[in-house]
Amino acid sequence: MPYPAVRLRRWRKSPSLRKLIQETKVSVNNLVLPLFVRPGKNIRNPISSMPGQFQFSLDQLLLEIKEAHQLGIKAILVFGIPFKKDEFGREAYAPHGIIQNSIRSIKDKFPDLSVIADCCLCEYTSHGHCGVIHKKKDSFILDNDATLKLLAKIAVSQARAGADLIAPSGMIDGMVKTIRSALDQNGFSDRLILSYSAKYASNFYGPFRDAAEGKPQVGDRKSYQMDFSNWNEALREVAQDLEEGADMVMVKPALCYLDVVHKIKEKFNAPVAAYNVSGEYAMVKAASKNNWLDEKQIILEILTSMKRAGADLIITYHAKEIAKSL
Ligand code: PBG
Repeated sequence: MPYPAVRLRRWRKSPSLRKLIQETKVSVNNLVLPLFVRPGKNIRNPISSMPGQFQFSLDQLLLEIKEAHQLGIKAILVFGIPFKKDEFGREAYAPHGIIQNSIRSIKDKFPDLSVIADCCLCEYTSHGHCGVIHKKKDSFILDNDATLKLLAKIAVSQARAGADLIAPSGMIDGMVKTIRSALDQNGFSDRLILSYSAKYASNFYGPFRDAAEGKPQVGDRKSYQMDFSNWNEALREVAQDLEEGADMVMVKPALCYLDVVHKIKEKFNAPVAAYNVSGEYAMVKAASKNNWLDEKQIILEILTSMKRAGADLIITYHAKEIAKSL
């Protein structure tokens, strides 16, 4: 006999009954807070397209992390804005580059906080691409294998500084394998790799490129990031990254790609991260500022839907504000 619909609805009549059968709950344990660090002292530059987010100098960054840590946040993802950019992004793998110095200080002050290092060149190259490029007239070619050599150097320098997880975000073929073997060869086999496996060439990264000052000077990233029409390809990317040794995989952006998160979670036995990116954050902030949406409730609904879709970790600029209300 079919279950009478009226009895299904009965669950919803009281708040305590609704809680009793609640299937998904966002926890502060699953949140990762992304942060931007730049050279200098006493700097907190507001990022205009991301209200509430800043570029911090290291001293200010440590204060921000202290607050996040007190709120129970267990992991941060750090992006560096270098002192100097050049064609090969040299500061990305300098022993005392902005990110290496920052990671060392963070781990020194907060040893139990997991530090995830973005392993990419785009913030560090003068042309703003995620690797070594050969310029043609109005276009360019990304040199995949020359880029791999640099990614290995970045990863080892970040691990040496104390990073717990290395997160390659450039969608460079073979990046996980290269980084895994470089880490192992240098005595860092205990460090994890969180691969940006399914990273789409998305229009949602606009505000981030202001924040990290990493906008490509020529062309776009379509030659290495995925077409937003595809999901089969995402499964192939994930399979490949797991095969190459990734410990965790990521889908980015998150909100328009929850079908992809779900499919990956169903198919693979691996932790899946969803990156609630800058453009998603900016939309919520803009609408809330106009009182078009109830900010707190919207954030909770968005993050819960990511978890419901199958995300284990959620990387979100909302981490601090949501941690306060959980
Ligand atoms: C670059 C990188 C990007 C983001 C994270 N790492 C931007 C890009 O690929 O252009 C985007 C994050 C966001 O939008 O919040 N390696």
